[in-house]
Amino acid sequence: MKILITGATSGIGERLALLYAKEHQVYACGRNAEALQGLGEHESIIPLRFDVTDLAQITAATAEIDDLDLVVLNAGVCEYIDDARHFDSALFERVIRGNLLSLGYCLEALLPKIKSGGQLAIVSSSVTYLPITRSEAYGAAKAGVTYLARTLAVDLPDIDVSVVHPGFVHTPLTAKNDFAMPMAISSEDAAKRIVRGLHKRQAEIHFPKRFTLILKALRVLPQSLWLRIAKGMVR
Ligand SMILES: NC(=O)c1ccc[n+]([C@@H]2O[C@H](COP(=O)([O-])OP(=O)(O)OC[C@H]3O[C@@H](n4cnc5c(N)ncnc54)[C@H](OP(=O)(O)O)[C@@H]3O)[C@@H](O)[C@H]2O)c1
Repeated sequence: MKILITGATSGIGERLALLYAKEHQVYACGRNAEALQGLGEHESIIPLRFDVTDLAQITAATAEIDDLDLVVLNAGVCEYIDDARHFDSALFERVIRGNLLSLGYCLEALLPKIKSGGQLAIVSSSVTYLPITRSEAYGAAKAGVTYLARTLAVDLPDIDVSVVHPGFVHTPLTAKNDFAMPMAISSEDAAKRIVRGLHKRQAEIHFPKRFTLILKALRVLPQSLWLRIAKGMVR
């Protein structure tokens, strides 16, 4: 198989690239030149350097690529809104651009390169299940990501689309979190679960189940009840 993964220089995407590279040809994408060079030392990994928020860069870097079996759009950024009363619109724009608008550019450049019968995976987040404190920007971006993925699943007749909803995963992205991350798993574990789900062509891949199933159950609570619980989490 020929697989392209964005956000492959770190965390979940890096583990995913290394796992797939054991048996397949992988295009590992990112901006970090040093990490890309390291990945390029693997026989079956071809590193590609581009910024997912720049359509011209994506188009140029992937010009020679075709007939992809699987594209995993995993690159993303996380920043929290610390003071909602003094809303930081620049932060909001960065997070929406880095997670959601970036997908528009990647889709325009890469969808035509996925072969008929191929697969598209989009990494969203379990934050989309419920409104969580400080997640105004990240949660809004990922809610858009989930909606986009689900709609593409409806409208792409010859490509299977999977949306990925991870719970907490230990990666550089979450290393800066100064709060408890219940039931967090390793990036290696996350990558294995994604590979398994994609192999089964699951429409939604979510993990760890003991965490995501609790969130899914809480989702059926009346909004007013969840609001009381969520307000209890505000620091
Ligand atoms: N970790 C978690 O608990 C968790 C939970 C739910 C969802 N997720 C989602 O999982 C995905 C991977 O997260 P992670 O935890 O593995 O994060 P990470 O270790 O910080 O990795 C993020 C990756 O995205 C790439 N990236 C970010 N902005 C980019 C840009 N403008 N252009 C190109 N590449 C860019 C980074 O590459 P460069 O540095 O090379 O640019 C890096 O490879 C993200 O979409 C994240 O939202 C993570």
